[in-house]
This record gives sequence, structure tokens and C-alpha cells, in this order.
Amino acid sequence: MSVDIPNYLDISYKEPGKFEETRYEKIHNVIVESSTEGSLIVAKEIADLIKAKQISKSHCVLGLATGSSPIKVYEELVRMHKEEGLSFSNVISFNLDEYYPMDKNNIQSYYYFMHEHLFNHVDILPENINIPDGTVSLEDLYQYCIDYEIKIKSLGGLDFQLLGIGRTGHIGFNEPGSHFNSGTRSITLDHITRVDAAPSFLGIDNVPRKAITMGVGTVRSAKRIVLLGWGISKAEILKKTIEGNITSHVPATYLQEHNNTTFVLDKGASSELTRIKTPWIVTSCVWTDTLKLKAVVWLSELTGKPFLKLTDKDYNDNGMSGLLAEEGSAYHLNIKMFNTLQHTITGWPGGKPNADDTNRPERASIPKKRVIIFSPHPDDDVISMGGTFDRLVEQGHEVHIAYQTSGNIAVSDEEALKFAEISKVLSPDCKESDTVIKTLNEKTGNDIDSIEVRKLKGLIRRSESLAATRYLGLTDSNVHFLDLPFYETGAIKKNNLSQVDIDIMCNLIERIKPHQIYAAGDLADPHGTHKVCLDALFESLERLKPNKYMDDCWVWLYRGAWHEWESYEIEMAVPMSPDQVLRKRHAIFYHQSQKDGVMFQGNDSREFWVRVEDRNRLTAKKYNVLGLADYAAIEAFKRYHF
Ligand code: F6R
Repeated sequence: MSVDIPNYLDISYKEPGKFEETRYEKIHNVIVESSTEGSLIVAKEIADLIKAKQISKSHCVLGLATGSSPIKVYEELVRMHKEEGLSFSNVISFNLDEYYPMDKNNIQSYYYFMHEHLFNHVDILPENINIPDGTVSLEDLYQYCIDYEIKIKSLGGLDFQLLGIGRTGHIGFNEPGSHFNSGTRSITLDHITRVDAAPSFLGIDNVPRKAITMGVGTVRSAKRIVLLGWGISKAEILKKTIEGNITSHVPATYLQEHNNTTFVLDKGASSELTRIKTPWIVTSCVWTDTLKLKAVVWLSELTGKPFLKLTDKDYNDNGMSGLLAEEGSAYHLNIKMFNTLQHTITGWPGGKPNADDTNRPERASIPKKRVIIFSPHPDDDVISMGGTFDRLVEQGHEVHIAYQTSGNIAVSDEEALKFAEISKVLSPDCKESDTVIKTLNEKTGNDIDSIEVRKLKGLIRRSESLAATRYLGLTDSNVHFLDLPFYETGAIKKNNLSQVDIDIMCNLIERIKPHQIYAAGDLADPHGTHKVCLDALFESLERLKPNKYMDDCWVWLYRGAWHEWESYEIEMAVPMSPDQVLRKRHAIFYHQSQKDGVMFQGNDSREFWVRVEDRNRLTAKKYNVLGLADYAAIEAFKRYHF
């Protein structure tokens, strides 16, 4: 019996390419404000399917994914079960994949993940749960995979398949090279996939090399497919998947031939699509000031010409004649855009006292400002804005640093042991050192650190931070270690933000009554600590907004350790001389536990100081290529209006 279920995913875009702005797109996709909004819509579609199947007295066969992407979908399904009585009694689930070999009790297993996030909280029958078994012997593996496939087919196939996408373009663990018609099988994981999994395994060496995965053919046979794409780190691969040609190098492109697939993307994930990145190529635009700057920066980079050398022909040849018509001529537009960018540059991040500030990013009034720099981990302050931090102190502002989390999880056991042993030598009777040395020596695999070990690791990061802030001229009383409780799980998975976290943030802001707040506006990883710390700030600002002193408070976002603002997004650019670059490097060096083989390096193997110097140099280079002065390095900020 066919079941009619409502589709909440904007069906007007169902046929890719139907509307002019989707001209380059080969997969139906919907762009939502946030991953939370998208997750609620997808959870609703799944819930409606389950209910519709209940009415028709049939099973609902769901293909499920793990990883960070579907977490909020599962959270919402659990909420619907608890608060709205959504039953999973007719659901039969098949998970996409499992690491191999992998024990079910291992907290890294997908078996554990699914139970923790969904199955333990709903009324699905245990016998209806199917997750590839990472403990099957090598001899039985081949037949096991065939049986998994047969079982799905015998139930009439998958009614709905939920997917995430890997940076390799994998769906399930179908890595590049996978065949269009592949079935469930064992597969060797790509290096990039293992790098991405490394943080949750506390290092790449612990990530299994193999996995069992449903095949591309298995996934494609689902009646409905929804792929979730969150965060800017997925933007490149999503562009290739949606706009590129079908190729085994990007297995997700095979979904172009499935006629009931929707990709749900947040803004970051959709940012490389043609209609978002360069909308003037595919449609006529409403030219806001930001879009004008974005377009002219793009044109300048495309033609390799600085702003002031762009001609009418350059604009007309590249889909921007509408903009030219609005602005009169390239000459006027070029000067306007040049000035806009020029006005972002300042060596006075706290404002230049007694100067005309009409065209400066910060106010000249309030010559000595109270400033709070929020740093998610103890080191983001110097990594992301060490040069600006240095200037603010030097220019006489009252600077406070607030480390939002203890950062204890990123200190290696070897580093902690070193300090525990020193402490033992200094005070041989110290019981705490004995306990820590014993626990660390006995620690196996992915054991969660004891409270004592976490405390020591947190202290190591505190003393490194103090060394760096002292070097930049700050007194210790202006350094605040907030140790927000959401972070203190001892594991990669953190708790949700609570009122206690917000209270801690608000108390500090209330006490200091800052004129400037700097914070990490790092939206690259929607589930990461930086994003949670930013949410904590946004919530605090909302709460404190009615206070009079907040009228004078401006918020500037730096971009965090991984990315930089695009040139057209920058609202304050603080240049650094070669000597200031060296001072910044020196400050970063004080964070010794984060040097050489950092645990949470991500997909870039350069050390933080190298990465950030390259990045600051590149920002300066980009400004120079657009026709502005040639600086050694630039730190960039964007203002947040609350
Ligand atoms: C998970 C799976 C993978 C992930 C993909 C994205 O079961 O099969 O394809 O969906 O690696 O992972 P996240 O969501 O962690 O970015």
C-alpha cells in the first residue's frame, strides 16, 4: 500500500535546475537557517512516515546514520517519543555502517552511538535494530554482509535513508572508488575519514582502518533519501556533489540519479553553491552593500586586477551589468568599494583617541575602554588575535581575558605525567601526585580521565595561559578561568549548555561592564566547543541587553583557529608589523602542551602558530591584491550586533 506523507522540505525546489538560480544544481536541496532548524524538519518527516505506516499497519524500514550530523534529528525524535507519544514499535532500523573490528561496548562503536542517542530512549523492539556487527570473524564477514543486504530486501527495502556526507564525498563508508551498484561489504577507510574521526578516538592511531558499510546500491534503493550537511567544512564537497559530474571519486554524486533525494544544508554548508557564492551568475540580484563588496572582491580575484583597475567590460562580462547600471560606472563603483575596504583597516582596535572616527571601525570616544576577550580554549586568544590583544594592552585599555573552558582534554597523558613526576620530586609526601602517576600509568585505551588527572591537565593549561598573558603585559587578576561546566565531561562529547554556564558568563560581563567584547565566531563545526562557547555568549548578551551599560558594548568576532573571514566580510582589519608577528608567535609558544602533535589538530597537520601566521599573511596579501597597502600580516574581525 502506498502511503502519502507530507514533505516539509520546500517542494518548490524539488526539480533541480527548474528555477534559474539552481541552474548548476543536479540534486534537490533546501537551505535552512541553522542545523537545529533543519534537524527539526527532517525529524518531522521521519515521524510522519512512521505514523503513516502505523495507520496502514505496516513496518517502517529506516536506514540510519551516525556521526555528528544526525544527532539533533535523533534528539528531536526522542523528544517526540517522550512528549508526543511517537512510537517506534513498527520501526525496523538498519544502520549504514560500523567500524571493523569493533566491540559493541566500545564507546567509539556506532552500536554504542545509536543506543546512546536514540535506541535507549524510544520503544523500538531490540530485535528490530540492525547495526553491522564489528565483531564478526573475518571468515564469516563476506556472508554476513550478503545476509545484511538480503534482510533489507526481504523487508521490502528501505523506506527512508538518512545520510551525512564525509569530506571525501563518502555516503555510509563508501569511500572514493566505490561502485554505483555496490552492496554491503567491508571497506578500507580513507586517510581523510580517519583524520576526521581522530578526535573522538583520541588520536589517529586508534582509528580503525576498516569498516563494514552498506553499499551505494543499497542506499540508492531507498524510496526516500535525506542527506544532512552542516557547517562550512562540508561546503566544498557539497558543491562537487550537487554541481559536479557523477564520478566514483565523489560517491555522493551517485545520488544525482536518485529521484527522491533532498539535501538539507545550513548556511555554512551551502556557502560554495553557485547560487549562494556568486548569485549574479545565475540570477538578477538585489544589490545590498555587502553583496556589492562580495561581488567586486570576487571580480577582482577572478581577473587578477586591483579594485581601481576594473573596467566596465570586466563587470559586463561577468554577470554584473545590473550592478553597473545601479552604480553608474565602474569608476564610481571601484572607488566606493576601495574606500569601504580601506576604512576597515586600523592600528587602533580600541579606537584612536581624539581622531575623527567617521570612517574608522571603532569609536574614538571612551579613550580607555574596558575589554573582555573570550577565548573558548586556553590559547585561542593568542592564536586568533594575539596581535590585537597586544595592541589593546599597549594602547592602555583595561583588557581582561576569559578562558571559557579548561581545555583539559587536549593535554596528553605523557605531558600530565611529566608534571605529576616533577610535583612528586618537589613534595615526595604529596598523595595527589601518587594517585595521578598511578592512574596515568594504569590507563588503557580510551579510559576517561579521573577527576585528579583532569584537574592536573587543566592546571597545566592555566599556567601556560598565564605565562602568555604575562608576556603580553597583563596582570594575573585580569585573567579569568571560567571552567564552564558544559565542557567538564572528561570525554569528547560535551554536555548541553545549562543556566549555570550562562550565569558564569553573565556574572563576568556584569562585573566588568565592557565597552568591547571579542569572541570566537567560529561556526565551522556546528557541534564543536567554539560554537557552544559562542552560543553561551549570545545567550548572555540577550539576557544582559536591557542593562544601560550594554548600550556602550560592541562585540567583535574573530574567526577561531580554523578559518578566516572572507575579505568582504571583514569590518575591522588590524595590521601587524613583522616584529608584532614574532611577538604573537612567542605568546603562542607558551602553550607548550599544544605544540608538536596536538591531539585536536583537525585536518591540517601544521602547528597552530604556523597555520595562523600563514593565515594572517594571506589576509594581508588578499588586501594587497585588491589594491590596498602591503602589510606583513592582518588579523580580521566582524562586528556582531545584538
Ligand atoms: C555515519 C556515516 C558517515 C557520516 C559522514 C559524516 O554512519 O556513514 O558517512 O555520515 O562521515 O560524518 P559527520 O556527520 O560526523 O560529519
